[in-house]
Amino acid sequence: MPDPQQIFAIEHIIRARRSIRSFSGQVSDETLQKIVESALYAPYAAGTGIPFKEIRRIFIFRQQTAAMTQAQEIIQEHLRRSAFKLRIAAVFSKKMQTLAGRVQASAEKGIPSLREGSLIVAAEKKGFPPVEAQSLAHVMQNIWLTATAHGVGLQLLSLTGGLANNKRFMQLLGLPPKEWALSGCVVGIPKHVPAAREQRNADDFIFWLK
Ligand SMILES: Cc1cc2nc3c(=O)[nH]c(=O)nc-3n(C[C@H](O)[C@H](O)[C@H](O)COP(=O)(O)O)c2cc1C
Repeated sequence: MPDPQQIFAIEHIIRARRSIRSFSGQVSDETLQKIVESALYAPYAAGTGIPFKEIRRIFIFRQQTAAMTQAQEIIQEHLRRSAFKLRIAAVFSKKMQTLAGRVQASAEKGIPSLREGSLIVAAEKKGFPPVEAQSLAHVMQNIWLTATAHGVGLQLLSLTGGLANNKRFMQLLGLPPKEWALSGCVVGIPKHVPAAREQRNADDFIFWLK
């Protein structure tokens, strides 16, 4: 029997999920553990033949740890290199200009949330068919919805994907380069309550075909 309370709760959480980009501090280890455990229940690509135990790893970086200091340095260096490459690419391709500008700004001032919250990195082993990016999206969504239910804010960090090719970062995770895809986010206590989400009109998006 469907439970109306559970339906209400899941609908509420899905609608309440927002991107939060500034934090007033970290959440407790206990809450963080509960949030990341949701990643273990996200779907995985069983068709690759990789056993579940070998396919997924979750890494947590807390403030004031050596690992976080190293991660921040590697990310800053990665941003500087990406900004340089994108500046050149933007000379030849107009569509690269917006991204180049954004990455340049992050390379100059850093990513504020990384100095305030905890970094979570999810790794999924690459297989065939190559669907690890999709699996990681499911992992992040589980983490995001669980964080929302706990009143914890989350910012996705797209740049984490590119760190899969960064030898120093992969060494920090203790994973061999080239075999894993990465995705990441920062979580923490939201500095501000996000504005109420605008209503979305279902008829603009959903089409029942006859
Ligand atoms: C694939 C993907 C990558 C994203 N990467 C980032 C990111 O690197 N940094 C960030 O602050 N937000 C990132 N976002 C969040 C979007 O900007 C955000 O979801 C969108 O603005 C809508 O806002 P909402 O999450 O509050 O609904 C990403 C979202 C998606 C789906």
